[in-house]
Amino acid sequence: MTVLPARRLPLLVIAALALAAVATSCSGDDEDDTTASTTSAPAPSSTATTTPLLDAPATVIAHRGASGLAPEHTFAAYDLAVEQGADFIEHDLQLTADGVLVVVHDATLDRTARGPAESCTGPVATKTLAQLRQCDVGSWFNEANPALAKPEYEGLPIPTLAEVVARYGTDVRYYIETKAPEAQPGMEQALLAVLDDAGLTDAGSPDDGSTDAGSRADLTTAPVVIQSFSAASLRLVHDLRPDLPLVQLVTVGTDDPLGPAQLDDIADYAVGIGPLSALVDETVVAAAHERCLAVHPWTVDDRAEMARLLDLGVDGLFTNLPTVAIQVRADHAAPTPVCTPAQP
Ligand code: G3P
Ligand code: CA
Repeated sequence: MTVLPARRLPLLVIAALALAAVATSCSGDDEDDTTASTTSAPAPSSTATTTPLLDAPATVIAHRGASGLAPEHTFAAYDLAVEQGADFIEHDLQLTADGVLVVVHDATLDRTARGPAESCTGPVATKTLAQLRQCDVGSWFNEANPALAKPEYEGLPIPTLAEVVARYGTDVRYYIETKAPEAQPGMEQALLAVLDDAGLTDAGSPDDGSTDAGSRADLTTAPVVIQSFSAASLRLVHDLRPDLPLVQLVTVGTDDPLGPAQLDDIADYAVGIGPLSALVDETVVAAAHERCLAVHPWTVDDRAEMARLLDLGVDGLFTNLPTVAIQVRADHAAPTPVCTPAQP
């Protein structure tokens, strides 16, 4: 049982009362729960912001692997994240010219790839997998980070998503982003095919035959979470596989990107939001939790910012430095659930 810091106990007593009121409006079933999509944003509340959503420690998501210490989206970075105890490793997807999903953040190869120019510069989408096999995505890290450079990073290949899930199986969970999916039609279907082949689409599904992806508990147990800045992409995945937990990424660029109307829309298909960390305050956490949406800010490497977010009651965070996040998390109470999973 988690021992709670004494300074938090009075708040948690109050929070328990808030829980009773909030939980009944957050069944977790996005098909049936009309309350979640019609409520207005709550007033900021110090009690709400100290009552996180899920009955689990805050989730540590290794952003592009442990990419603060090793080259992003390589097995070196993923291995390190797993060794450090991250809950999830995070992946950005690109589709090759011959329709293979690879893990690369940028649409172009220029920043992180080294090798023959015809194969390792320009858009990923114009290269075949055979071309990408000629590229080295480790050397750039040594060039950019001399203090962290290691000889073994030189020559690291671009993994396919299938290779990633084959390597780690169920040793870790996967937090996969459909990156720029509007420009890469078929990405969602290709993703589901890889996950199906790896047996990762049913391990976290309810065994009662219901389409409860939306079960809010899935974020603590599901082997895969799918994230995107594209609502259309997430809605497509939700239509294809309602059992998969989805997280809507949110950044600046539109007015009030986390306002009541936006959160109501997101709650129709997603179980969480992934906001730019600077967007997260008490009001955002309370409004998301009122709709049973988990909050996973990105990308946080600073201890003080991690502590600020955990104090607000976020349910997890993306970080390039999983060890730091795990250390900071240890100084915080485990979240207390305010939403209960839907019952069969
Ligand atoms: O997926 C969360 C975060 O990674 C979004 O930003 O650009 O690093 O994919 P980006
Ligand atoms: Ca990402």
